[in-house]
Amino acid sequence: MRIAHFSDLHVLDLAGVDATRLWTNKRATGMVNLRLNRGHKHKQHAVEAIVADVRAHNVDHVVITGDLSNLALETEFARVRSMIEALGMSPEHVSVVPGNHDLYTRGSLRTQRFFNAFRAYMTDEHGAAHEDHHGSGVFPFTRVRDGVAIVGVSSAVPRVPVVSAGHVGVAQMNALRSVLSEPSLRDLVPVVLMHHPVINPRGRWRTLSRGLAEAHVMRELLSQREGEVLFLHGHLHDRGHREWVGASGATVHHVGATSASLLHEHPDKSAGYNVYEVDGGRVTSVSARVFDARTGAFRAEAVSKKSAAFAD
Ligand SMILES: [Fe+2]
Ligand SMILES: [Fe+2]
Repeated sequence: MRIAHFSDLHVLDLAGVDATRLWTNKRATGMVNLRLNRGHKHKQHAVEAIVADVRAHNVDHVVITGDLSNLALETEFARVRSMIEALGMSPEHVSVVPGNHDLYTRGSLRTQRFFNAFRAYMTDEHGAAHEDHHGSGVFPFTRVRDGVAIVGVSSAVPRVPVVSAGHVGVAQMNALRSVLSEPSLRDLVPVVLMHHPVINPRGRWRTLSRGLAEAHVMRELLSQREGEVLFLHGHLHDRGHREWVGASGATVHHVGATSASLLHEHPDKSAGYNVYEVDGGRVTSVSARVFDARTGAFRAEAVSKKSAAFAD
């Protein structure tokens, strides 16, 4: 089973949007952020190159771990939809979870905009999906494919400006616990998708402003599995492979993809995507294809191993 993973597309598309809608508080902050930090470095052509490269390399499944858009606008979601469709894969072979940018405003929430745009990529085939997570869909969804159980979790919640912290919630966490302990899924490798990592940055304020307060609960759930686990996230815009050994002695692989659109001099932050091979109940390979903005080509690279020290 070969899985391609990209994340944090941050597609921006203001075409046809009424200017008054952009100047809600939240979007105004977002726009300032874009100008200062994002707009000049996030390039859509990098995402299009990734789609073409994934298409050229036979993969069985594609996963996308949130922040598909910048401001959760219909125009942005439509653009992302056409990029996903350009993969040429049916929705059963593409799984998506939302990021904090995809539930950016109350209006996007009220209209269930993300869910309406991407529901085909979040279908639950197991019956354990439980919670309507802030209008972003029903989570966790479970999709069994060749040797793996793909489990999509939503950590995306609307927040006040400058806060990007995630939240899973008790109901979703309990449903996830029952999926991960389900006997019929015992022999499969769980591939858990969530926008936020479950290793928090150091410092309580950093966790509260951009981390996940329930990270330790989630780590415990992952660590209780008898076999290997592949946990895939975005949000940090940093490519890295952290791992630890669970209660049964099996490895939990915690792997982040960088932003698919970010042009950056640091190789771990530069646009690209990750590729995983899962075979015989194990994660047999973790690698990356990194986009070279000068040539437009991709080079195969290892994913940097990083420390899995828990601060919480
Ligand atoms: Fe992001
Ligand atoms: Fe994010």
